[in-house]
Amino acid sequence: MAWLSRPLTVIGLVILAHGCYSAHEHTVLSSTSVQHPTSPSATSLPLDIYIETIAATLLICLGLVLGSGTPEPIQWHTWAGKIEREGDSTSGDADKELRSNPFNALEARSGFINISKLRSDFVKYQQLGK
Ligand SMILES: *[C@@H]1O[C@H](CO)[C@@H](O)[C@H](O)[C@H]1NC(C)=O
Repeated sequence: MAWLSRPLTVIGLVILAHGCYSAHEHTVLSSTSVQHPTSPSATSLPLDIYIETIAATLLICLGLVLGSGTPEPIQWHTWAGKIEREGDSTSGDADKELRSNPFNALEARSGFINISKLRSDFVKYQQLGK
């Protein structure tokens, strides 16, 4: 279905451009015409322009959705496992080690400092000096 996406999008864009041009032409013609300036049907857009614009928009949306690839996993562990197995192709100049495992930054970080332990160690060190 991917081969269908680009022609659908292009056809939708052409139809949308035609709809926009038709609306512009209708606006210009109705503003310059003096036949029925007070009637609402002379100033409002015809229904076929609305239908053409909506159909073109839907066609463009369908073409873009068909042309997009398979969606990426949105769960963190699935995404990280996929990156670990295959490597990330999106970031080109990032660090090789960081690119291979997204959890490396978390696994390599230093732990919390235990202030009580440092304090007791320092007290023991001071008592050794006496
Ligand atoms: C911090 O050090 C103290 C003393 O050694 C110990 O009792 C405590 O469990 C440690 N706390 C943590 C979070 O490791």
